[in-house]
Amino acid sequence: MTNILLLGGTGWLGKTLSGLALDSGQQVTALARGTQAFAPGVNEVIADRASRDAYDRVENQVWDLVIELTSSPTFAREALRRLGGKARNWVFISSCSVYAEQSEPGADETADVVKPLDPDDGEAEPDYARTKSACEELSMQARDGRALVVRPGLIGGPGDPTGRSSYWPLRFAEPRDPVLVPADPDGQQWVQIIDVRDLAAFVLDAGSAGHRGFVNAVGAQHTLGEALRLAQEAAEAATSSANPDPGHKLVEYDLARMEVDLVNPWAGPKSLPLVLPTESGFAGFARRSDARALALGLRRRSLRESFEDIVRSNDGGGAGALRSGLSADEEAGLVVG
Ligand SMILES: NC(=O)c1ccc[n+]([C@@H]2O[C@H](COP(=O)([O-])OP(=O)(O)OC[C@H]3O[C@@H](n4cnc5c(N)ncnc54)[C@H](OP(=O)(O)O)[C@@H]3O)[C@@H](O)[C@H]2O)c1
Repeated sequence: MTNILLLGGTGWLGKTLSGLALDSGQQVTALARGTQAFAPGVNEVIADRASRDAYDRVENQVWDLVIELTSSPTFAREALRRLGGKARNWVFISSCSVYAEQSEPGADETADVVKPLDPDDGEAEPDYARTKSACEELSMQARDGRALVVRPGLIGGPGDPTGRSSYWPLRFAEPRDPVLVPADPDGQQWVQIIDVRDLAAFVLDAGSAGHRGFVNAVGAQHTLGEALRLAQEAAEAATSSANPDPGHKLVEYDLARMEVDLVNPWAGPKSLPLVLPTESGFAGFARRSDARALALGLRRRSLRESFEDIVRSNDGGGAGALRSGLSADEEAGLVVG
């Protein structure tokens, strides 16, 4: 049995990691303030990492695997100072956001990263990429290279708190017509989503196996058009008993109109989720190399399966209740306009 410590554990990935590890018979302890519930069965350590005594209850054990989920270099540094010397294996959950350029399709883990933030800088609103880059550097330094830095791309799947991966399948699952879909006639837009459950399994397996270094944990690459077709097929399959005639009328939306219509790309309110900004520089964004992850054992379900599970597990709120996408009124306004 592996003795796992999650630094974090109450967020979406943290809870998925906890559940999967517990299901496979591991012992899981999670340290967080508890602003959200811990996964059932986890040994809860409620602590604020900003306080001096945060690690008192977890530092006198030898952990087989520590999984660090923070984006704060000061938290990462202190955890490494208190726990880093003894832990057998250490995984830091970073992000593909650390890369300095997003323009080269197929770029691998050797690509340049942004300058790490100095943990003592005290910036009020530190840049996410630079904080993650700093945590990466601190982890590798403190562990003398004996750490695995996992760089997820966009994480998706059931329960996605951002709504980015859920909007399209849930929108297609609604009977409302027409559906406004982004036009991408030249196949310039790409989608690369890693299912949170596949990511969690990879982190646990690769971390426990003692792999070291940097690895992109990303989904398979699809054009946006393919991804939308998969979302529609998944929605139809998941709702076929309730809605035997699910065909949708589609209206294509010219992405050149986004600025004038005040429609956001990517995420958030009044957005077209998963659509990349149309300016240059994003050609490699959703096309990161997955070669090392696959070599280390990453197994991925299909995007269609992730989409279908999103629809099946939806609590009924639908696309309009998400933190990303268009409301019914916004969509109708864009169809007319
Ligand atoms: N979503 C994506 O597409 C994406 C892509 C690439 C990488 N990532 C990375 O993937 C990870 C996602 O993690 P997640 O889903 O589990 O959610 P998360 O919200 O990022 O997890 C942060 C954890 O840290 C804990 N925490 C925050 N402040 C704390 C404090 N002062 N003291 C103690 N604990 C504290 C939170 O718990 P409490 O609030 O309960 O304290 C929570 O459990 C993150 O590292 C994120 O940067 C995400």
